[in-house]
Amino acid sequence: MNKVLGLAELDVANRRVFLRVDFNVPMAGGKITDDNRIVAALPTIRALREQGCRVIIGSHLGRPAGEVDLTLSLEPAAARLAALLDDDVLFAHDIVGDDVESMTKELIPGGVMMLENLRFHPGEKGGDEEFAKALARLAEVYVNDAFGAMHRAETSIAAIVSHFEMAGAGLLVTKELEALGRCVQGAAKPFVGILGGSKVSDKIAVIEALLGRVDALLVGGAMAYTFLKAKGQDVAASRVEADKLALAARLIDRCVERGVALHLPIDHVMNTSLDSEAAPDVGVSFGPGQMGLDIGPETVRAYASVIATAKTVFWNGPMGVFEQPAYAAGTLGVAQAVAANTGAYTVIGGGDSAAAAAQFGLAEKFSHVSTGGGASLELIEGKDLPGVKALRLKGR
Ligand code: 3PG
Repeated sequence: MNKVLGLAELDVANRRVFLRVDFNVPMAGGKITDDNRIVAALPTIRALREQGCRVIIGSHLGRPAGEVDLTLSLEPAAARLAALLDDDVLFAHDIVGDDVESMTKELIPGGVMMLENLRFHPGEKGGDEEFAKALARLAEVYVNDAFGAMHRAETSIAAIVSHFEMAGAGLLVTKELEALGRCVQGAAKPFVGILGGSKVSDKIAVIEALLGRVDALLVGGAMAYTFLKAKGQDVAASRVEADKLALAARLIDRCVERGVALHLPIDHVMNTSLDSEAAPDVGVSFGPGQMGLDIGPETVRAYASVIATAKTVFWNGPMGVFEQPAYAAGTLGVAQAVAANTGAYTVIGGGDSAAAAAQFGLAEKFSHVSTGGGASLELIEGKDLPGVKALRLKGR
């Protein structure tokens, strides 16, 4: 099978490069509230500029579904990129067409321009060949560094690639594939998986995939209550997916069959609602009308002792409602335990758990924090991502 070419294997010097990035960053009131994904693309942008490339950057932002919605313009992202590079970044208010093509030709070596949100164009969805050709006319080489979007079969991720003679992965995509790959094949044992978040239904495929690889699975977040209820425990008003109880019971049995130690919370931080002004209770059993909003301190201690034995850790999903200080201790405790195991290879699979690690100032302590939530989960599930598949066709 062909291997995806990395940046060092591409002959990019002095050429026009179409660089697909994932600048799908959180915004509030037209302002970027977290620029991690822009920062993560800087090494590739800098490497291309150092080789005299003219860099034409494309990304999506939000889900405008083929229509122009200026609240989702990428102009603020272009401005942030310019600030980070401490240099000019030209912004094309369009995506394809004669004016954009002339802009690409006017770029000086090392010059950077950014296209408007690719999802403003109806052709971005589903591999439109005309749009793919029009985008490909903007450059000579294709580089994909949009790890967070590699699981989307969109035109600028997949169909576009066959219109270039040369295509490969940027430094971020190469790093992400390597890091997550270490949790898919040949992970050093013991391998501990930590899964949290609100719904079992979002995590079924990843739980099933991890069951074949991990030695222990630690479960937190609201999804833990579906498992506890499936075991017959009283979880009072905790959030339970009633239609997933049978599935949770089957997953519990599969853990036993496969010799995977499944750990569920043994105590909880509880309240009658997330908005309740009453101080939360901490304990083993629920009072009437109470719901679990975080794992309790005994659970943190138990999980930390399992984490301390690991040689590989993959973590996706918070242990509680960490955005609220009253329910953040569980996620913080687990993050600290993973960070403290410096002898293990530790990976955070994007999304909320990456945001939590950043909020606690611990992101630097993990071996790898993925920039892709959905993409990293699909890789862990063992799926062949459309973006990776397309690059492989141009590989060696
Ligand atoms: C993400 O934020 O997960 C990626 O940018 C993909 O975005 P999407 O879910 O809107 O396709």
